Amino acid sequence: MKTGQELIRERTERTEWFQDARFGMFIHWGLYAIPARGEWVRSTERMSVEDYEPYFHAFDPVEYDPKAWAKAAKEAGMKYAVLTAKHHDGFCLFDSGLTEYKSTRTPAGRDLVAEFLDAFRAEGLKVGLYYSLLDWHHEDYPAYGDRVHPMRDNEAYKRNPESFGGYVSYMHGQIRELLTNYGKLDIVWFDFSYDDMNGEKWKAAELMEMMRSLQPHIIMDNRLEGSGSHSGSIYTDNPTTYAGDFASPEQIIPPTGVTGDSGNPIPWEACITLNNNWGYAAADRNYKSATTIIRKLTECVSKNGNLLLNVGPDAKGRIPKESLDILAEVGEWMRDNGDSIYGCKAAPLPKPEWGRYTWNGATLYAHVHEPSVGPIPLVGLNGRIKSARLLADGSELMTSRPWNATEYTSDAFVNFASPEHNSYPLPDPRATVIQLELTQDKELT
Ligand code: GLC
Repeated sequence: MKTGQELIRERTERTEWFQDARFGMFIHWGLYAIPARGEWVRSTERMSVEDYEPYFHAFDPVEYDPKAWAKAAKEAGMKYAVLTAKHHDGFCLFDSGLTEYKSTRTPAGRDLVAEFLDAFRAEGLKVGLYYSLLDWHHEDYPAYGDRVHPMRDNEAYKRNPESFGGYVSYMHGQIRELLTNYGKLDIVWFDFSYDDMNGEKWKAAELMEMMRSLQPHIIMDNRLEGSGSHSGSIYTDNPTTYAGDFASPEQIIPPTGVTGDSGNPIPWEACITLNNNWGYAAADRNYKSATTIIRKLTECVSKNGNLLLNVGPDAKGRIPKESLDILAEVGEWMRDNGDSIYGCKAAPLPKPEWGRYTWNGATLYAHVHEPSVGPIPLVGLNGRIKSARLLADGSELMTSRPWNATEYTSDAFVNFASPEHNSYPLPDPRATVIQLELTQDKELT
């Protein structure tokens, strides 16, 4: 048996690419795109399998063009993507041999997962599949009395706990199919554990052993064991074999990043929606701005984390226009400023008042979000700045100390133009990145 230390070392090796990549696309897509009220619609509206059946017969995403999705992700600066192969409603976007409840049996008639994987790999992106541990379609999954099942209050759906084993073998069988029939996968994203539906209830050790034997390099989130903040043994020095490779904070960016019980950094990925829904929700227009996304991505990186940003394609197979527009603008910023994101991590400096730092060891990146009055202070960095340039165009910036900064002797100063005592608007009001080369005599640790 491997020690905790060995497991953590392997996790560190496996997640190396992931921690460099920093930015990925989450895609929630399924039958729920038709009712268009989010992917929990069956549960929130207490719909039976029969109530939901018309969507199965109507599912015909004639405009599904995964190459266009992959292009949008690539141009946004994303390095990987994760698609819902099966969500809680149990509907499979792949041609499983273990169920008829799959896209190939709908009017779509296509293996949507296979096409997604081909298209995203062709753009050079890493690929992952989301797989719901919950299954509201499978007859062996607890229904009446479960916390979230659509039939939770309906006694007619009382199920014999003994039969749950049937579901577990189905779930293991589908994971085997996905890891056997679809080439190299980079990520498996399980969702989710709750109450006693957790860890060994999923026969997680056995499942993990199978997964590692099929695709040893694959990385996985921490939700086989827990969901929500700080649950699961990923945080300890003694993780289980199925603790996962990265933590998965949801709809929040952890205020101080993610660290383990002994203060050690844990790989993490915040997953967030572009509006307030994962699955397509026609009436939800609460979109975040491109500026917010840029700054939140930077915030993740400044705390050693990744951002997995969701899109919810509609019933025709199109990513909503609002989402595409935001992605395009983020991509425009990323083309100029991606060096301050990829391969970067937390700088060993306190958060500056005007924005955030990211760091890649050789270079410190100052992400300025708030225009300054007078020169921009780089607190504690007096004598440490060798050169300062605007990352977007490589132009040199002024770092001499103007008259209004004479008394702040431990700090360095930078400004966008001369004379340096003046105030200037930010060259990019979304986020202006200054690339700072530091003198090597005293290392930032
Ligand atoms: C949740 C929801 C789900 C969504 C997921 C993404 O756990 O149940 O609908 O897929 O979060 O992280």
